[in-house]
Amino acid sequence: MRQKMIAGNWKMHKTNPEAVRLVAQIRAGLEKNPVRKTRVVVCPPFTALSVVHQALKGSKIGLGAQNLFWEEEGAYTGEVSARMIKSTGARYVIVGHSERRRYFKEDEHIINKKIRLALKNGLKVIHCVGETLEEREQNLTKDIVGNQLEWDLNGLAPEDLKNVVVAYEPVWAIGTGRTATPEQAQEVHAFIRDILDALIGDQVGARMTILYGGSVKPNNAAGLLAQPDIDGALVGGACLKASSFLKIIQASEKS
Ligand code: 13P
Repeated sequence: MRQKMIAGNWKMHKTNPEAVRLVAQIRAGLEKNPVRKTRVVVCPPFTALSVVHQALKGSKIGLGAQNLFWEEEGAYTGEVSARMIKSTGARYVIVGHSERRRYFKEDEHIINKKIRLALKNGLKVIHCVGETLEEREQNLTKDIVGNQLEWDLNGLAPEDLKNVVVAYEPVWAIGTGRTATPEQAQEVHAFIRDILDALIGDQVGARMTILYGGSVKPNNAAGLLAQPDIDGALVGGACLKASSFLKIIQASEKS
């Protein structure tokens, strides 16, 4: 059985007091309605990782960062290393998000270096892939997603993939309120499993957790999560309120 997961990517939201308040609400909600099969992960900004870790003590909620730098340490002003992230208590890191690819010009070489360094330091990676609207309209979805997987994961062994979760996030669905239909998402998820098998071997595709991301909300989560190859969600906007995040988590529990 593949691990189900609902992860919240807070992006650049929440001061430390706001972050502590939000996780306290998520925690309280999960104490009332405990999850049995879904791994819940929150990914606040770097600045809130330590306080959120404190606020999560004794709970099963996982903690992740949204980015890391590709070198171990050094003169890289403003950057944050894998070891620094680990020292906050976080165990996950998001790599390859389309906002990083777009605004910070992160390409496949950078993403590959980041994934390798994260894994080397014992962090689990949430690796994002996805096509733009233009690419979808030109029927390039599978080429783009296939290339991202091939280059971003270049050189990784089946063993390494145990610590990678793939998130399929069509760029046109992020923050737009326009989500992929369950069938559109399912088609790409099944393709991702096949590609992972072809690239890495050892039938890793069948074992890997693949999340869908892009305008996941309480009212569309159940339909997406009912698809056979959708194992969970990477939630943006709807994870900033405990009530909507909790509803998505419950949809995963029922799927
Ligand atoms: P939205 O849920 O706000 O569309 O964001 C999705 C996302 O980018 C998660 O990483």
